[in-house]
Amino acid sequence: MECCPNNRKKIVIAVDGFSSCGKSTFAREIAARLGYIFIDTGAMYRAVTLCGLRAGVVSPQGIDRAGLEALLDGIDISFRFNPARGASDIYVNGECVEREIRSIEVSGCVSAVSGVAEVRRRLVALQQAMGRDKGIVMDGRDIGTVVFPDAELKIFMTADPSVRARRRYDELRARGERVTMEEVEENIRSRDIADQSRAISPLRRAEDAVVLDNSRMTVADQMEWVLGRLREMGVCE
Ligand code: DC
Repeated sequence: MECCPNNRKKIVIAVDGFSSCGKSTFAREIAARLGYIFIDTGAMYRAVTLCGLRAGVVSPQGIDRAGLEALLDGIDISFRFNPARGASDIYVNGECVEREIRSIEVSGCVSAVSGVAEVRRRLVALQQAMGRDKGIVMDGRDIGTVVFPDAELKIFMTADPSVRARRRYDELRARGERVTMEEVEENIRSRDIADQSRAISPLRRAEDAVVLDNSRMTVADQMEWVLGRLREMGVCE
């Protein structure tokens, strides 16, 4: 249910943090409450990774950078609201790839792809254009630091690695993916290291971001917390 009448000031909300912290679930819920646009930027890096895998320029063994960069002009990314899911699906050149981008294969290669400067340059420009009119909740790794350094509210999410692994494992199994807990833990561990140590736009908390550790919080707890902040800011009632 929306709690933000149209005459309220619209802001940009940046949600950054570690993988499998529930950032997208949380950010989507905030957007629904405020009547804002929600953008999952991880899905955009995943979509480029999927295109690279399909074209044979990305593999678990490495990336053909020149080949990947040559593909970028032909990748048109958009989001379309899916009423059945109550959320937006991501499309590449008109094809819905919402399911394909969540596979363990894409997860295994996306950190390397997101470390390619030209990929970041293009996706950041697209993200900034999406948020030009404010009224947006965007989740990712560099939203509060690079994409919207002037965002009015920046949230940095974290949770115990074991809690994150369990959440991701349950999500993948529910979708019928044949993964083991060990694979999921290893994927989370290696992505944490890659996200924090990459040369361009590494994952870090913006100085003015508020930290939300949701290891022992439900989505309802998290919403109560954020709505309190938004009320203090005069963004919602
Ligand atoms: O949020 P996610 O797990 O779906 O993100 C997939 C990958 O994309 C993650 O390993 C890091 C990268 N990413 C990024 O580098 N910058 C963003 N703004 C969002 C995601």
